[in-house]
Amino acid sequence: MALDLSVKLGPLELSSPLMTASGCSGYGKELDRYHDLSVYGALVGKSISREPRLGNPYPRTAETAAGMINAIGLQNEGYEAFIKNTLPKMRSFGPKAVVNVVGHDFDEYVWLVERFDAEDGIAALELNLSCPNVAEGLQFSSEPGPCEQLVAACRTKTKLPLIVKLSPNVADIAGIARAAERGGADAVSAINTLVGMAVNWRTREPLIANYTGGLSGPAIKPVALRCVWQAANAVDIPVIAIGGISNADDVLEFMVAGASAVQLGTILFVEPDAGQTIHAGLKERLIDTGVKRISDLVGTLKSKTPPALSS
Ligand SMILES: Cc1cc2nc3c(=O)[nH]c(=O)nc-3n(C[C@H](O)[C@H](O)[C@H](O)COP(=O)(O)O)c2cc1C
Repeated sequence: MALDLSVKLGPLELSSPLMTASGCSGYGKELDRYHDLSVYGALVGKSISREPRLGNPYPRTAETAAGMINAIGLQNEGYEAFIKNTLPKMRSFGPKAVVNVVGHDFDEYVWLVERFDAEDGIAALELNLSCPNVAEGLQFSSEPGPCEQLVAACRTKTKLPLIVKLSPNVADIAGIARAAERGGADAVSAINTLVGMAVNWRTREPLIANYTGGLSGPAIKPVALRCVWQAANAVDIPVIAIGGISNADDVLEFMVAGASAVQLGTILFVEPDAGQTIHAGLKERLIDTGVKRISDLVGTLKSKTPPALSS
């Protein structure tokens, strides 16, 4: 039997567990010059809102130990230009096109989902409920009630697979994952960035104009692993892992902890061809360990229930 890297995310079938993470590689053309994009099961584009957004003032990115902080603030060309100019190109690269959707409020999310449902060639929608860099970014991912209501309203507007992107900046990510599932999500993705800060003590200035921003990269991997494991144990729908994934071993760690697929984010700023390297690394590791089907590894972490905390 040949190696099988395909995975299923509910109704969404992918030829590879690798996806791009929203906001870290545009909409495909930024990576296409480096290698054949067929190593990706899906490309997830940067968040799209109803109107164009300029984002936050500069500077809005800073390198930090083992990662970066960003406060881009959801800059994007808006729904109309995206449909006309960008979506056709995004679809042409081969991997499935996943559109990441963001709204200022309830009605904007629902409006966007209804519009995207009418477009051809979109494989799934990812609802970004978890941007920490805009005023209203966490209103639907902090409490189960608003999350469930929004997902349920979006569910009525589309038959496309709905992925709900969760925030780590909450007390109980398992509870929010369950709310997304009750609302009708086909999968959850976790995690978005963690709120962080960087300053220059000599100039007494923050490194980014917004003061705080979202921390990403290898620095957040252990937090992401914990969130993915908690979410995967809380819901029956698939979980997509995001957070510091930089090599094939990272991918397999997340899959064993319960992820059905993974997204590559910050690593693509450092190694734009990481998708290719990681895809080759996955095949090598499966051959090494005699695993034929990568999906057989999902959720195989031993002893799912940890011992009780000592008092
Ligand atoms: C510069 C930058 C821009 C991002 N923009 C978005 C975005 O528009 N929408 C979104 O859902 N997530 C966005 N993210 C979050 C990533 O998709 C991802 O969840 C996060 O960076 C953690 O993964 P990583 O550590 O592999 O980068 C952005 C991250 C970075 C670093």
